[in-house]
Amino acid sequence: MKDAAYDLAVFPGDGTGPEVVREGLKVLAALAEGGPAPWHATEYPGGGQYYLLRGKEWEPEAEAAAHRADAILVGAVGWPGAFLPNGDLAGRSLVLGLREQLDLFANVRPCRLYPGVTHRISGKYRDVWTPQNVDMTIVRENTEGLYTPARGRLTRGGETEVAIDTRVITRKGTERIVRYAFDLARSRPGGAPEDRVRRATCVDKSNVLEGCRFFRETFDRVGKEFPDIERDYAYVDAFTQWLVRNPEHYSVVVASNMMGDIITDLASVLQGGMGFAAGANIGKDHAMFEPVHGSSPKHAGRNEVNPFATFFAIEQMLRWVGQRHADPRMTAQADRLESAVARTLADGTAKTYDQGGSVTTSAAGDRVAAVVRSERR
Ligand code: IPM
Ligand code: MN
Repeated sequence: MKDAAYDLAVFPGDGTGPEVVREGLKVLAALAEGGPAPWHATEYPGGGQYYLLRGKEWEPEAEAAAHRADAILVGAVGWPGAFLPNGDLAGRSLVLGLREQLDLFANVRPCRLYPGVTHRISGKYRDVWTPQNVDMTIVRENTEGLYTPARGRLTRGGETEVAIDTRVITRKGTERIVRYAFDLARSRPGGAPEDRVRRATCVDKSNVLEGCRFFRETFDRVGKEFPDIERDYAYVDAFTQWLVRNPEHYSVVVASNMMGDIITDLASVLQGGMGFAAGANIGKDHAMFEPVHGSSPKHAGRNEVNPFATFFAIEQMLRWVGQRHADPRMTAQADRLESAVARTLADGTAKTYDQGGSVTTSAAGDRVAAVVRSERR
């Protein structure tokens, strides 16, 4: 347990990022009122819009603050027309850059449907996804695979122009991500909703790709150290159907970087949409937390987007800090936040437009903050 307050570095970023982060900070402040606040949150500007104004993605001080913080919260980055001279997304430093520099190898994305949340599947399949059968966590490798910064363009503009992205799968990178997945499967005593079996599913394309064969071999080798966890396999193409048709089968799912990127957006539909999807980017010594939705320029400035993904990102953050520092105060705060969020979702008083409601972003934040306060011991 740390004596000093935990230092949280907050990067609201672009578009709707600042709108959801504002509500997150409001809820954090409500939690802090309940007792000694063991954290202080400091906001730093940065992202694509900042780049358009200032010619840099963020200030060196902001970057240094991210490196030294106990935990990092990012809203969203990306803005129309904001690109670096090499064509990269301006703002990438705040997300992809931190993943690379701080070696945040595990992108941990829980997918759980809370009572009271509506999803958009229609007709007779409406009951397929229920709060009882959607409760999994997708673990995405976050530092290599197709995101490896080994790419480029040859004979630019010429008739023989070639673009190359290199997919790198390493032993170290794969071992640590599959180990993370097996550890997580072990820490979820409930197992999969279908049969309560503690299961880890390896999603890959090992019927075609060599990197995927290596990924699966490594999954099997490390998995032998976890005899209590069932090893399960899916080719990524088939997985997309099974995920939607039979989500109750899954508890922990592990995938390489790009595949994990794609399947987590798909999985978000099961939990009510991207408005509920949060991710933790976890390394050995650092971690960054974010709502998975982007900056949504078309909704920016309208105070209408769903801030719950940010609340879930903050819950993951408090829980991670609590675990890392063996600090029960932080774990208790994560529990309080989760219970306030679950209560608000269940009573349906904070439904934003994506949920068929008309509650604004800030009113949804007010509501959760009020529930936090009302549950104060
Ligand atoms: C995500 C996002 C990022 C990614 C983008 C913003 C670079 O889609 O976190 O899933 O591709 O990883
Ligand atoms: Mn993505």
